[in-house]
Amino acid sequence: MTDLYAVFGNPIHHSKSPHIHRHFAEQTGQDMHYNRQLVAEDAFRDTAAQFFADGGKGLNITVPFKLEAFALADRLTERAQRAGAVNTLARQADGLLLGDNTDGIGMVHDMHNLGWELRGKRILVLGAGGAVRGILQPLLEEQPASVTIANRTREKAQQLVMSFQDLGTLQACSFPELAGQTFDVVINGTSASLNGELPPLPAGVLAENAHCYDMMYAAEPTVFLQWAEQQGAGKTADGLGMLVGQAAEAFYIWRQIRPEVVPVITAIRRQMNEKSAK
Ligand SMILES: NC(=O)c1ccc[n+]([C@@H]2O[C@H](COP(=O)([O-])OP(=O)(O)OC[C@H]3O[C@@H](n4cnc5c(N)ncnc54)[C@H](OP(=O)(O)O)[C@@H]3O)[C@@H](O)[C@H]2O)c1
Repeated sequence: MTDLYAVFGNPIHHSKSPHIHRHFAEQTGQDMHYNRQLVAEDAFRDTAAQFFADGGKGLNITVPFKLEAFALADRLTERAQRAGAVNTLARQADGLLLGDNTDGIGMVHDMHNLGWELRGKRILVLGAGGAVRGILQPLLEEQPASVTIANRTREKAQQLVMSFQDLGTLQACSFPELAGQTFDVVINGTSASLNGELPPLPAGVLAENAHCYDMMYAAEPTVFLQWAEQQGAGKTADGLGMLVGQAAEAFYIWRQIRPEVVPVITAIRRQMNEKSAK
C-alpha cells in the first residue's frame, strides 16, 4: 500500500517539499505519496491527529506550526528539544509520534556538500529567531572556534547563548558591536532578505576568503549575497541546499534511506531559473 506523507503550513502554496520528496521517492524506488496541505491557523492539532488516525506515516511542518508540532510529539530528538520546534513528525512502530528538527542538520550537510570547512572557524550568525535556534546545535557539533550571534534585538541573541553555551564557545552582540571583528563564515538567519533588506552589518567583518550563506533562497542572489560579493567573500551560497537537505533528513527518518541531494538541488535550481527568466 502507498504510504502517505504531507507538509502542513499556512500559507503552503509556495512549498517545494512535495516536489523534493517526489524526486527522492523516484530516486530510491519508494512507494509513497506526499501532499501539501493548507491548515487553518487554529486547526493544526486536530488536522494532524486526523492525518495520523487515517494512517498517515509522517508530516513536515512549516510556518506557523513548528511550536505546535513540538507540543504534539510524544517523543523528541535532542536537537528538536534544543530547537524548541519540530519540522518533522514520524509515526513509529508503537504508534507514538517522534518529533525532530532537521533544519540545522540540513544546512550543515549542505555546507559539507559545498566543501565548506566549519571546524576551527570563527562563525557569525545573523538573527536570533526560530531558524537560528534550529541550527545552533548541529553547527556547534562541527566544533567551530567560536559562534557569535548578532541580532537587532540583542537580548534574544543573549537568550540563545544561555540555552546553548554548554555546547561550545558562543557570544551575543548587537550589529554595531561587530565593528572591528572578523569572521570566516557568516550565516544570514534573519528574515531581512525576504523583504529585500540587508541586516545593518558594518564593513570589514569578512576575513580573507570568508564564506557567506543566506538561509533564504531565490532565483537571483539575495541582497545579503550581493553584499557578500561586494565585500570580497570567497564563496557564497543560498538556502536551497538547506531546504533539500532538511527534506533528505526527514526522508531518512521516515524511510531509513538517504537520498542523493545534489541532483535534486540542481533540478530545482534549474526550474527556478527558468521561471524567473519567463
Ligand atoms: N532554507 C531553509 O530551509 C530555511 C529553513 C528555515 C528558515 N529559513 C529562512 O530563515 C529566515 C529566518 O526565519 P525565522 O523563522 O527564524 O524567522 P523569525 O523567527 O521571524 O526571526 C526573524 C529574525 O530576523 C531578524 N530580522 C528581521 N528583519 C530584520 C532586518 N531588517 N534587519 C535585521 N534583522 C532582521 C529578527 O530580529 P529581531 O529579533 O530583532 O526582530 C529575527 O532575529 C527566513 O528568511 C526563512 O526563509 C530557511
